[in-house]
Amino acid sequence: MTSPQTLALTPHQEQALQTLLRRYQGGGQSALLPLLHDIQAITGWVDEPTARAVAHTLGIPEIEVHNVLEFYTLFYNRPVGKHVIRVCNDLACMLAGHEAIIRALADHLGVPEQGGTSADGRFTLELHPCLGHCELAPFLMLDEEPMGPVSPDQIPDLLGGVS
Ligand code: FES
Repeated sequence: MTSPQTLALTPHQEQALQTLLRRYQGGGQSALLPLLHDIQAITGWVDEPTARAVAHTLGIPEIEVHNVLEFYTLFYNRPVGKHVIRVCNDLACMLAGHEAIIRALADHLGVPEQGGTSADGRFTLELHPCLGHCELAPFLMLDEEPMGPVSPDQIPDLLGGVS
């Protein structure tokens, strides 16, 4: 279900969003994933009015947009931090010591080890099933950037290097 909250966009973000919607006009179902990906790169997540605009732009039922937002873990229908850290929580990473990484991130961000968003809204920590880079365990993704193997003492530098 989409969050009752709505996006608070800057004029620049609003303009970029409208430009995107014009570019994808009439794109149909096949354009849904790329459009949502491009929107999220601007807005961070997709609210109800934007989901409606996506459906209208592509000429597809709204329910299809909501289904994708709920099914794909890389899309968000609720507010998230400016940066999202996805830590793999699956077997290979578990065996490689992912718990220490999760603890270091949670301590540093002041969020529960199960995940959450830092009080300043800069980071969201999430735990995910296998992210497909088991050879780099323990593995995480900082936004779109794959990282691994990661050690707990790298965490402060890793977070400090993000604007
Ligand atoms: S088990 Fe962690 S990336 Fe596959």
